[in-house]
Amino acid sequence: MSLFDLTGKTALVTGGTIGIGLMMARGLVHAGATVYLSSRKQAGGEAAVNELSAFGKVEFLQADLGQEAECARLAEEFRSREPRLHILVNNAGATWGAPLEDFPASAWDKVLDLNLKAPFFLTRALLPQLEAAATADDPARVINVGSIDGLRVPATPTYSYSASKAALHQLTRVLARELGPRQITVNAVAPGPFPSKMMARVLDEHGDEIAATSPLGRVGRDDDMAGAAVYLASRAGAYVTGAVLPVDGGIWASA
Ligand SMILES: NC(=O)c1ccc[n+]([C@@H]2O[C@H](COP(=O)([O-])OP(=O)(O)OC[C@H]3O[C@@H](n4cnc5c(N)ncnc54)[C@H](OP(=O)(O)O)[C@@H]3O)[C@@H](O)[C@H]2O)c1
Repeated sequence: MSLFDLTGKTALVTGGTIGIGLMMARGLVHAGATVYLSSRKQAGGEAAVNELSAFGKVEFLQADLGQEAECARLAEEFRSREPRLHILVNNAGATWGAPLEDFPASAWDKVLDLNLKAPFFLTRALLPQLEAAATADDPARVINVGSIDGLRVPATPTYSYSASKAALHQLTRVLARELGPRQITVNAVAPGPFPSKMMARVLDEHGDEIAATSPLGRVGRDDDMAGAAVYLASRAGAYVTGAVLPVDGGIWASA
């Protein structure tokens, strides 16, 4: 069996309907996993399911993960469909940019609720299903989507965003230690610039400059993110936990 084969595994990808989540979900489906996508918008969910269903079993579960009750409800919806969860991808995220003097309290609440608290609440709520999927040889996997903006100081005034991602990287290490003995790995990917709705304006205006900061001279592609997800989710990544993997063309390492 291929080192990267995910046949028979079930994954849940939050924010899996567009952008980086969809890139990761596509990789997991192509590798053979059954994939549940989640986000707020039903129409976006249906479009993503239509797109990915050509390659395998894909379902959509609607939830607004900015609230703890919704994290619990999503876990319950998942539980009513599947007894086991092999791969949880905590990807849904939001950003906010505003000058220091104007940066509102709501920009802290919105961004920390979704980017930091939701991965904690959802992972905790799904522990029984992760443990049911886990074995010592083949642990269950939690993959948190951080950012290189949680590793370096970003150029933009996105105070709560970069703080949320640095905190998510640390939460990844904390949970890796706690959940390793329960046969669950916890890792983060720290993407550099990838085309998405969140990044559309920045890449339209500064795409060439940003690409030039990478030793590889380009921004991310769908396969770069799919590959990272499949690696961390498959037998290939079974001995990796507590890692924060930059997928950024070397931008962070060479900064
Ligand atoms: N793109 C990049 O260059 C880049 C770089 C570093 C890190 N990241 C990280 O990668 C992740 C995905 O980013 P992206 O660029 O792909 O963003 P995106 O294009 O804006 O997609 C965000 C996804 O999250 C969902 N979402 C947003 N708010 C939500 C909520 N309250 N509850 C549930 N789902 C919600 C969205 O769907 P709905 O609108 O339907 O809810 C969508 O599926 C984020 O964590 C981001 O911080 C991105």
